[in-house]
Amino acid sequence: MKIPEDLKILIKKEQIQEKITELASLLNKDYKEKAPVLICVLKGAFMFAADLIRQLKITIEVDFIKLSSYGSNATSNGDIKKIHGLNSELEGKDVLIIEDIVDTGHTITFLLKELTEENPNSIRVCSLTSKPARREVEVKIDYLGFKIPNRFIVGYGLDFNEKFRNLADIYYLDIEIPEE
Ligand code: IMP
Ligand code: MG
Repeated sequence: MKIPEDLKILIKKEQIQEKITELASLLNKDYKEKAPVLICVLKGAFMFAADLIRQLKITIEVDFIKLSSYGSNATSNGDIKKIHGLNSELEGKDVLIIEDIVDTGHTITFLLKELTEENPNSIRVCSLTSKPARREVEVKIDYLGFKIPNRFIVGYGLDFNEKFRNLADIYYLDIEIPEE
């Protein structure tokens, strides 16, 4: 695939993989005596989750959820509707949410609230990226890959209008994003 000119490299695949190794060794340590349920938030986190999970030496369960939400593609708002596809029993379990990006913080706040209602023993957040400049609600990210500038990013699972998820590196879109 030819990379369009308005995609500029932000995080190289080698950097991503190095960071994942660091995160995995933290998780291998912190969850040593546990058997956490990793919940991958689709679609954006699929590639991150796949690479991270491969480096985990602990006993884990994996589940995938999808959120239906309203709002434009480039930004998100607090208007989140529903969680789809959760099959795991979370009562008494150690839950780790795997996200691609924490932007305004609404998605992760919603997820933490909903999943806490299942009475897990613990619940933590592991996100590949975070855009602190865009935060509207305060969020604790327990395991974070990269803080990124206020740019729209694509690649490594992240999309713009469903495209570019297959890129191995992370790029930013060098265009103005219109306000909602
Ligand atoms: P939040 O609720 O604003 O924190 O947004 C989280 C969701 O918005 C992410 O899971 C992504 O699906 C999407 N998102 C936010 N920023 C970006 C970006 O820069 N690139 C791709 N998707 C993004
Ligand atoms: Mg996402």
